[in-house]
Amino acid sequence: MPDKGKFPHYMLKEIFDQPKGLRDTIEPRVSLDDAVVRLEDEIRIGVDDLRALRRINIVASGTSRHAGMAGQYMIQELLNIPVDVDYASEFEYRNPLIGPGELTIVITQSGETADTTAAQREAKAKGSKTIAISNVIDSTIAREADGVLYTHAGPEISIASTKAFTAQMAVLYLFALYLGQVRGKFSKEQRRAHIKELLSLPEKVEKTLESSTACEEIGKLYYKFEDFLFVGRAIHYPVAMDGALKLKEVSYIHAEGYPTGETKHGPIAMVDEHLPVVAIATCDKNDFGSVLRYEKNVSNIEAYKKQLGQVIAIATEGDSLLPNIVDQVIFVPQAPELLSPILEIIPLQLIAYYITVKKGLDVDKPRNLVKSVTLE
Ligand code: F6R
Repeated sequence: MPDKGKFPHYMLKEIFDQPKGLRDTIEPRVSLDDAVVRLEDEIRIGVDDLRALRRINIVASGTSRHAGMAGQYMIQELLNIPVDVDYASEFEYRNPLIGPGELTIVITQSGETADTTAAQREAKAKGSKTIAISNVIDSTIAREADGVLYTHAGPEISIASTKAFTAQMAVLYLFALYLGQVRGKFSKEQRRAHIKELLSLPEKVEKTLESSTACEEIGKLYYKFEDFLFVGRAIHYPVAMDGALKLKEVSYIHAEGYPTGETKHGPIAMVDEHLPVVAIATCDKNDFGSVLRYEKNVSNIEAYKKQLGQVIAIATEGDSLLPNIVDQVIFVPQAPELLSPILEIIPLQLIAYYITVKKGLDVDKPRNLVKSVTLE
């Protein structure tokens, strides 16, 4: 088992491992000079098949499914290919109408999750090619897939998945770029710009980790609350889902992840001084759509404040509006909207960690959970 080093718990160590996990996952697969992503040896699906692809299915469980949800936004936005995301445990029950000409991406940290293995077998039985995204070399799911894209996050010991999640999202982005490259979707300059952004992520994650002390303060302020609402719009919605899952599983505090715009259709009724709201409200100023979504988020946040909700916002560095509206702000560096989830999840992981430690619970080994769920 790897050493915890200077960290008191594996979860904190693994949160801090993320810059390295991202470097190891991204750097060997890209060339900035040539503006290319190299995945052909790992994917092992012919270029003609990749060009003919009409639809992609993603199946996974828990946090890996949240990465898949983010991947859905990435692939649809960059490539205009429809993507469906399923809970692996539900996949077989909806009679998935898949077949040749489609691809199923199976995402898993351990590579041994029984629900996910069953979903992969179902997809294969229906004639779909499969690509596994696995953090464990030669896992069952990796062995059974046509191609494997490993996340090189390093061994994840703490039950709560942290560094595997950010590495999974990076791999999904790499995959989207590779597919775009094969299908002639981007110019060389566009590819170079995407690769440059990917390569700058580890440093931005390092910068985001500097918010650890501020997250610890939030932990001290909020550890006695019994319910939390996490909200995010568009690709930030899966981040809200994962922030809620992290808090639930390690601290046993009830938390829900919701699409920001959807809260006004019911859940906002619950918001008062007893229900803190964690709002992902970053903004890519270079992207008009992102600015519009940010403005909508601000108006939703104002509504929570009107109802006396305490709001913790995750915002982009340089935002001078949100600090005047909300109770606490954690800043993340500016990034393209499709990559910002990799930064936004870091403070949510840290907040879940610090709340749990403040409650005196065993953060690395929450009750009733195992690292790899091998029962359906
Ligand atoms: C949450 C968590 C779980 C796993 C899920 C899938 O922090 O760790 O939700 O993400 O059990 O596990 P893998 O990715 O190993 O298939």
